[in-house]
Amino acid sequence: MRRTLIAGNWKMNLDRAGSVALARAVAERSGEVPDVDLLVCPPSVYLLPVAEAVAGTRVAVGAQNMYHEPSGAYTGETSAAMLLDVGVAFVILGHSERRHILGETDADVNQKTRAALAEGLVPIVCVGELLEEREAGHTADVIRRQFHGSLADVSADEIQRSVIAYEPVWAIGTGKVATPEQAEQVHADLRSLLAERYNDRIAGSVRILYGGSVKPGNADALLAQPNIDGALVGGASLKVDDFLGIAAAGIHAA
Ligand code: PGA
Repeated sequence: MRRTLIAGNWKMNLDRAGSVALARAVAERSGEVPDVDLLVCPPSVYLLPVAEAVAGTRVAVGAQNMYHEPSGAYTGETSAAMLLDVGVAFVILGHSERRHILGETDADVNQKTRAALAEGLVPIVCVGELLEEREAGHTADVIRRQFHGSLADVSADEIQRSVIAYEPVWAIGTGKVATPEQAEQVHADLRSLLAERYNDRIAGSVRILYGGSVKPGNADALLAQPNIDGALVGGASLKVDDFLGIAAAGIHAA
């Protein structure tokens, strides 16, 4: 059984007081969404105060990025062990903004994913096609390439401790959400890729989130799809009502 996971990717937004207040509000109202796993991913400088604010609650904390080396002369970077040390349990890897603005490749995402898993963090590995790739009919190929590239050498045990997020780049921050059918098609393809690489049982146990303009008004239809196990929410995760509204759609889906 896959528990629904609703993750808020706050990106480079909020200040310290705003981050702590939002995390507290999510924790205080988490009783409204029983049986749904809740995750907030603040900017890195606010991970510690947010982790302290939600310690002992049902809200988990995730980072938006990390570096694959454990320590050393890597100016500006943060390791998996450092994240764990401040109460972080998840890390978003290979988000399209990191791939397309910061130039991360599948090989980079793979190194980070393996380092996160080796340390005991849960990676949320993002894949997704550009609009021109979709329009050219290349979506399935792009997803297959990113899946194999980002998850190379991830063992059967490790993939069961991982989360995959499908985020069509053209739907991120644009208000243009994928239709439930478009999203379900890619999620089903990802499930098949997992079954090919591992086996059916393992494929059935891995959570695959949808991300890209998820709002309370479209979450029900997305989360009702059989292979959509949760949401990675950007803009709408910055408002507690919207975030919990999306999570509430997960109750019905569970
Ligand atoms: P959005 O972002 O919900 O604002 O489209 C999603 C994401 O980038 O994770």
